[in-house]
Amino acid sequence: MTKAIRIKETGAADVLSWEEVDPGQPGENEVLVRQTAIGVNFIDIYHRIGLYPIAMPGGIGSEAAGVVEAVGPGVTGFAAGDKVAYAGPVGAYAEVRVVPAKVLLKLPEGVSDQVAAAVLLKGMTAEFLLHRCYAVKPGDTVLVHAAAGGVGLLMCQWLRHIGAVTIGTVSSAEKADLAKQNGCTHTINYKTEDVVKRVRELTNGAGVAVVYDSVGKDTWDISLDCLKPRGMMVSFGNTTGAVPPFSVGTLAAKGSLFVTRPVLGAYTATRAELEEVSSHLFQAIADGILTPKIQQVFPLKDAAEAHRQLESGKTVGSTILVP
Ligand SMILES: NC(=O)c1ccc[n+]([C@@H]2O[C@H](COP(=O)([O-])OP(=O)(O)OC[C@H]3O[C@@H](n4cnc5c(N)ncnc54)[C@H](OP(=O)(O)O)[C@@H]3O)[C@@H](O)[C@H]2O)c1
Repeated sequence: MTKAIRIKETGAADVLSWEEVDPGQPGENEVLVRQTAIGVNFIDIYHRIGLYPIAMPGGIGSEAAGVVEAVGPGVTGFAAGDKVAYAGPVGAYAEVRVVPAKVLLKLPEGVSDQVAAAVLLKGMTAEFLLHRCYAVKPGDTVLVHAAAGGVGLLMCQWLRHIGAVTIGTVSSAEKADLAKQNGCTHTINYKTEDVVKRVRELTNGAGVAVVYDSVGKDTWDISLDCLKPRGMMVSFGNTTGAVPPFSVGTLAAKGSLFVTRPVLGAYTATRAELEEVSSHLFQAIADGILTPKIQQVFPLKDAAEAHRQLESGKTVGSTILVP
């Protein structure tokens, strides 16, 4: 038997329980992975509270790294002992688990298991947002909400390399410093400053070319008001709750705006896309464009505490769990 975090009902962090489980054996096209580092992501909180429904009772967690223990029938390209990571299939908060081979990636030299768990999901998100969803060009002015968060810091680093002017929103002076150290050109403390007014000042009235908004309900209107005419609103998260229905006429009134609501899974739906996005991420790490740092580490059994810290905005950058 091994141990895993299980969830039986939606609710506050204490619905997560540390239990004995039988991970089973890998079936057709499946791989048994002994996990050594597990990433914590805001989507885990959406799953826990029921915003995005998952099967219950069951596992939770969407990303991990570890070592292949055994492969099932039909698996090619992976063998016992390989160092691997994945993002996607729910149930990652576990010492050992079975994972579909189609989502597994081999870790390149120089990317440790802990770094992979800290950046695979968040870094592939930054990759598709900045290079595919709206391809940021040198000189673009970009607004990034939660700039000191897990996805946020990676976006700031990549935007610095692209040569964009990045305006990041944060909730404290410490988070502002961290965002700036990681490439953010200007920061706005949304607790004390008027975001729309500051963005207009920083852009000489023009507005930004694109907003990357993971905050959702609380920032929807603010984000639209920060865009220049024909600007792109990328709404990619719901940290404060889902965006309520809106009238498309609003987009006309605010300057012929574009809106997209992307998810990573749609940009890595085929094996070829997954390999393209992940290898671009790993190359960016190898080239020093991204310098992933793990800011919070918790024992796997304390996943509930990691959730409390993340959902109360107490964390910065990436958080991992270690079995
Ligand atoms: N669409 C996709 O495919 C995709 C993939 C990955 C992640 N995401 C989204 O990206 C976002 C970031 O994910 P992450 O895991 O890296 O989390 P994170 O950014 O590290 O944590 C969330 C941050 O949001 C900010 N925030 C603003 N209002 C908040 C509130 N009311 N409560 C809590 N936090 C608040 C906090 O920063 P401040 O203190 O500075 O406000 C907090 O640190 C999430 O919304 C997630 O769903 C989307």
